[in-house]
Amino acid sequence: MENREVALTKVVVLDFGGQYTHLISRRIRELGFETIILSYDTSIEDLKNNDVGVVAFSGGPASVLEPDSPKPSRELVDFLFNRNIPVLGICYGHQLLAEFFGGRVEKRERGEYGVSLLRVLKENTLFKDTPAQQRVWMSHKDSVVELPESFEVLAETDYSEIAAFKHRERPLYGVQFHPEVRHTEHGMRILENFLREIARLSPSWKVEDVAREKIEEIKQKYRGGKVLMAVSGGVDSTTAALMILKAVGEENIHLVFVDTGLLREGEAESVIKMLRSLGFRYIHFVDASRLFLERLRGIVDPEKKREIIASTFIEVFLNKKKELEEKYGRFAYLGQGTIYPDRVETGKTGKATSKIKSHHNVAIKNLVDLELLEPLADFYKDEVRRIARHLGVPESVVRRHPFPGPGLAIRIVGEVTEEKLRILRKATRIVEEEFTRAGLYDKVWQAFPVLLSVKSVGVKGDARSYENILALRVVESEDGMTAQFTKLPWDFLERLASRLVNEVEGVNRVLYDVTNKPPATIEFE
Ligand code: XMP
Repeated sequence: MENREVALTKVVVLDFGGQYTHLISRRIRELGFETIILSYDTSIEDLKNNDVGVVAFSGGPASVLEPDSPKPSRELVDFLFNRNIPVLGICYGHQLLAEFFGGRVEKRERGEYGVSLLRVLKENTLFKDTPAQQRVWMSHKDSVVELPESFEVLAETDYSEIAAFKHRERPLYGVQFHPEVRHTEHGMRILENFLREIARLSPSWKVEDVAREKIEEIKQKYRGGKVLMAVSGGVDSTTAALMILKAVGEENIHLVFVDTGLLREGEAESVIKMLRSLGFRYIHFVDASRLFLERLRGIVDPEKKREIIASTFIEVFLNKKKELEEKYGRFAYLGQGTIYPDRVETGKTGKATSKIKSHHNVAIKNLVDLELLEPLADFYKDEVRRIARHLGVPESVVRRHPFPGPGLAIRIVGEVTEEKLRILRKATRIVEEEFTRAGLYDKVWQAFPVLLSVKSVGVKGDARSYENILALRVVESEDGMTAQFTKLPWDFLERLASRLVNEVEGVNRVLYDVTNKPPATIEFE
């Protein structure tokens, strides 16, 4: 590894538009290494300027077989190769490297999605201290079917005969599976082997410094004036607001809390109380529930619902902004609690990411002519929770399950009505109560009921009933990007279902959702 001309400090994750790019980068940070994400078409100059030591080619939604799929330039790959810069190709990156050096990639009939059993074929540094058979997370349809002479196969699955490879002489590796996803049993070890043993990097990055650095960054950027920020009471916006408060002072930050009518029981009151306790001075409450419900009347399509909620939210927010400006003067900044997955799933992280759902918190900033303050934009939920604790956000907020911006509206399949909201609110309270009582609340990522827009027949008190069906969605996840349904104890499920059917008027059946993400998403809409 001698003839490298660039300093060996940073790990670059080259972004091909995958959902996993930031997750890879974050895992590498968790292991203590400094990372930076650059677009796949970045220049060699950029790499040099960033002191690149190692490059990971992330996964992407495209197929290397398509002519216009994102590919790095030949010069860039030659540069890495000739300088002996360690490269790890992941998923799409694995296929890209194989193809680049003369191997063959083929589209298969069916894909390999979810957990697969990987067999390591020969002892090697990448799989050092991991067992010969291990579970890995796969998500691909194309497969590498042939490697050039200069490469060797390191591992296989039943479906992929070339599930991992290495170059015979250079520090060039590819893995078809996702080492960054927790369902890959030894993923962290594999990444660490690559970084420490193959690339010989030493760790340097500490998560504890992040909050201080980010607050400092806001201070640097801040040139006086007032900050306006919409908050939900969730851990993201609360933490972001608190960081901004610490940077600009309590006199200069105004919070706006909008009751959309799509919130849970008692939510508005408790959020305002909590924000007060954190030292926020200007908290402005807007009750817009009637407006939201009117606009949602008759709307069934999920994206349409999201659009209406987003645009109504923006409208209400802008009206409030105008009103506040008349009283307090103009605002200079917009605070936002956007976290990284919000950006990925909305398709705003890179050139090639595909859009899955629209999140309205991303939309506001495009419409407001204020300078943005987004202290959490590069972090995942568990990182945000660590920062929140460090800053003294109440434990109940830190541990609270994520609740989507569009609220209960996307947990009602079909039209949103007051009656359905009443049912879902009550059911949500019961689910939260039971999970808390059983000590299960903190063990899962989210647990909530969804109201389906189909009714079914039942029998209540000797009479035929024809009532609503609730689906229960309970998942474990680390960041919401992937998730597995929770295998709850049957007696707990039984107790919960019976409470729901007995106590929530209008419900006579409860179903349990047993799909993972992917292919399903966590929310139903
Ligand atoms: P999905 O349903 O895409 O959700 O698997 C992933 C995570 O994101 C949350 N979610 C949202 N959060 N605004 C938000 O602030 C939204 O529009 C939104 N949609 C989904 C969801 O609860 C899960 O934790």
